[in-house]
Amino acid sequence: MAQKIIIDTDPGQDDAVAILLALASPELQVLGVTAVAGNVPLSLTALNARKVVELAGRADVPVFAGCDAPMVRLLVTAEHVHGKTGLDGIDLPEPALPLQDRHAVDFIIDTLRREPAGTVTLVPIGPLTNIATAFQRAPDVVARVQRIVLMGGAYFEVGNITPAAEFNIYVDPEAAAIVFGAGVPLVVMPLDVTHAALTSRPWVEGMRALPNRCGPAVAGWTDFFERYDREKYGSEGAPLHDPCTIAWLLRPDLFSGREINVEIETQGEFTLGMTVADWWRVSGRAPNALFMRDVDAAGFFDLLRDRIARLP
Ligand code: RIB
Ligand code: CA
Repeated sequence: MAQKIIIDTDPGQDDAVAILLALASPELQVLGVTAVAGNVPLSLTALNARKVVELAGRADVPVFAGCDAPMVRLLVTAEHVHGKTGLDGIDLPEPALPLQDRHAVDFIIDTLRREPAGTVTLVPIGPLTNIATAFQRAPDVVARVQRIVLMGGAYFEVGNITPAAEFNIYVDPEAAAIVFGAGVPLVVMPLDVTHAALTSRPWVEGMRALPNRCGPAVAGWTDFFERYDREKYGSEGAPLHDPCTIAWLLRPDLFSGREINVEIETQGEFTLGMTVADWWRVSGRAPNALFMRDVDAAGFFDLLRDRIARLP
């Protein structure tokens, strides 16, 4: 029986690779892709999600637009990382795949109420606004979530959008506080682990050489996306943040971490959006997340290559 998931996303080149990985993997049943404002405004993240699902040849997977702003703050975007379209690196045609009329939050609520309790995993790879809004609007669905596997936060790697905060959490810290405090089983892929999932030139060229359209698309996105990290960190490759969530669902053995307490800073003048991860268990606060630290990078990229090669 395939694992049912909903991918909540702000494409974003790394989001796009995560979506392709999920759609290439028969172990997963993608019930829907829900777009949220983040890397770029909602109009673009929704368009980009449609483009990626269509690129994968999966017109059967519905795409929904969700929240266009954080719960209480102004939207912060990341065109400086992802380009003005949010998916710079290759030009994809205007998608024929339609955007669903239903709001993404309603889709999340309806799906969790329809599917048997404990059978749907949420995979948020952008700001947590849609997820938190669903939990606030329909508290009954919280207990029905099987688990949440999210990309966000940092401890050892500290921040990437501010000195203290990682982008997904920083954009909507109030939403993150709701999600981390909801009591749902939580698997967190922080920068600590995603910064170990760096692309290499041979791997990217291997993508470009695949005899399909998705491989060269991944290469084009990576070429664009890695320039930011190369300039900022001096790293040779780009961290493929969001695909780590899908890879964990497929091969949890590739990752290791700790069950710890993670709280979200929502007040700090300099630390807003920080994930206060009690890695050394000094707070006495109850663990609420499996916080990942290490990845078998070679195994991760082998998995990614093998699955992207299966796509059109
Ligand atoms: O900090 C990395 C995260 O922010 C990734 O999800 C990337 O797509 C951006 O949304
Ligand atoms: Ca993202």
